[in-house]
Amino acid sequence: MSAGEARDDDIGGAVRIAPLPTGLAGLAAIDRIFFVSSATQDFASEAERGAFRERWLGRYLTHFPDGCFVALGANDRVLGYVCGATSDPAREPLFADIGYFGQLAAETARFPAHLHINLAPEARNRGIGGKLIEAFCAHARSAGAPGVHVVTSAASRNRGFYARNGFKPIVESDWNGHRIVLLGRCLA
Ligand SMILES: CC(C)(COP(=O)(O)OP(=O)(O)OC[C@H]1O[C@@H](n2cnc3c(N)ncnc32)[C@H](O)[C@@H]1OP(=O)(O)O)[C@@H](O)C(=O)NCCC(=O)NCCS
Repeated sequence: MSAGEARDDDIGGAVRIAPLPTGLAGLAAIDRIFFVSSATQDFASEAERGAFRERWLGRYLTHFPDGCFVALGANDRVLGYVCGATSDPAREPLFADIGYFGQLAAETARFPAHLHINLAPEARNRGIGGKLIEAFCAHARSAGAPGVHVVTSAASRNRGFYARNGFKPIVESDWNGHRIVLLGRCLA
């Protein structure tokens, strides 16, 4: 078992939401959950793998640590994380490399905060994701964001999860040969 990996007996009890861990074991667990959850599993090189991590996870840990939360099980095992930013990414130079933000700029203006969430496979389907969503939404609300959005594949199974957590379909679009959807939740 790798450092920070969740075991079944770490999940059964109470789950606690905590700020971004500072220790190496906690950060390694977030990395493991990120890569195991990603739709992309094969990388041509370590550099490509690193750039992928930076794009969807690393920049949030570095630039927006206050917008990162983890779900901890027994023994403080990291079961999942949410990370995100509260200002409009379509108008942030840091996110200029994410093509879809440009084409969704009218909607990101209404729902400027955005997040990425992943749970370890063995921690899914237990209602833990909703607790992470609420932690991020409280953070975004206190930062003054009027709404929060996620962008996911239009055909993704996770749409039911977002619907149950207050996100409504706002607009669909084509990006990189995929049909994507922006789901928005008001924070007012
Ligand atoms: C999506 C996710 C954060 C939800 O958290 P959770 O605590 O498992 O959610 P809940 O227990 O409240 O609800 C279960 C719902 O989660 C979603 N879900 C569960 N496993 C999933 C998986 N492997 N892939 C996509 N969505 C999944 C489904 O919507 C499921 O509802 P359903 O059984 O009716 O289809 C979590 O399942 C996960 O990390 N999934 C894989 C990665 C992912 O899709 N991340 C979001 C990228 S936009």
